[in-house]
Amino acid sequence: MSKRILVKFSGEALANKDGHGIDTSVLKYIAEEIKELVEEGVQVGIVVGGGNIIRGVNASKDGIIRRTSADHMGMLATVINAVAMQEALEHFGLKVRVQSAIKMQEICEPFLVRRAQRHLEKGRVVIFAAGTGNPFFTTDTAATLRAVEIGASLLIKATKVDGVYDKDPMKYKDAKKIPVLSYEMALEDNIKVMDDTAIALAKDNSLPIVVCDMFQKGNLKRIIEGDYSSCSIVKKLNEGDS
Ligand code: GTP
Repeated sequence: MSKRILVKFSGEALANKDGHGIDTSVLKYIAEEIKELVEEGVQVGIVVGGGNIIRGVNASKDGIIRRTSADHMGMLATVINAVAMQEALEHFGLKVRVQSAIKMQEICEPFLVRRAQRHLEKGRVVIFAAGTGNPFFTTDTAATLRAVEIGASLLIKATKVDGVYDKDPMKYKDAKKIPVLSYEMALEDNIKVMDDTAIALAKDNSLPIVVCDMFQKGNLKRIIEGDYSSCSIVKKLNEGDS
C-alpha cells in the first residue's frame, strides 16, 4: 500500500453547477474520500487548482492583464480553495495544515518542506497552496514538485475524467482509454496528461502518476491499495507492461 501520496484536485471540479465558486457538497465528498485514506494510515498531501475562480492563462489572454499578474491571481485562487478544503476536512475530524508557497502568514503557514514532512508523520493532511509560488507554472507542476519534495510514492491526479485517452473523450466518441503509459507517451500532443514541465519532473524522479475520476466513490482507496483498474497510470514501463 502507498504510505505517502499526493492528490491533485482540479479547481474546476469544486465549482458550483454554473461553473464558478465552491460547491460545499463537493468539499464534503472530497473530505470523506480523504478521511478513508487517513484512517488506513496513509499520509496525504493535497494540491488544489484554482480554475473555478480564475485561470492565469485565460485572464491574460487579451493582453490587458499581464501574464505574471494573472498567474499571481491564479495562485491566490488556489489559496482560497485550500482554505475552503481545510475547513471541510477539519469539519469531518481530520487534522489539517495549509502551507502556502507565497507567504501570507495571517492565513496559513509558509511552505517549509521539513515542517510539511513532520505534519504528515503526525497524520495531518497538508494542503499545499499558491502553486509553486512562481508564474508560468501550472498547479500540475506544483503537485509534481511537492510530491517529489515530500517523498510521495504516488501522485494522483483526481479530475473529471476516468483516465487518459488517445483523444479528447469529451469530443470524440471513439476515444480509447490507455490504462498504462510511459512518460514519453504522456507528453504526446494528443494525450497531454499534464504539461511538459510536470511530466519531465515526474520522469526524472520516477514518480508514477495516476489519473482518475475523483467522483467515482472509493477510487482513491482502491488506488492506494494498488487497484488501478478504473484509472490510468503513467510510469516507467517494464517489459511485460502493455
Ligand atoms: P507541531 O510543531 O507538530 O506541534 O505542529 P503545529 O502545526 O501544531 O505547531 P504550531 O504550534 O506551530 O502551530 C499551531 C497552529 O498554528 C497550527 O494550526 C498551524 O497551522 C498554525 N500556524 C503555525 N504557523 C503559522 C503561520 O505562520 N501562519 C498561520 N496562519 N498559522 C500558523
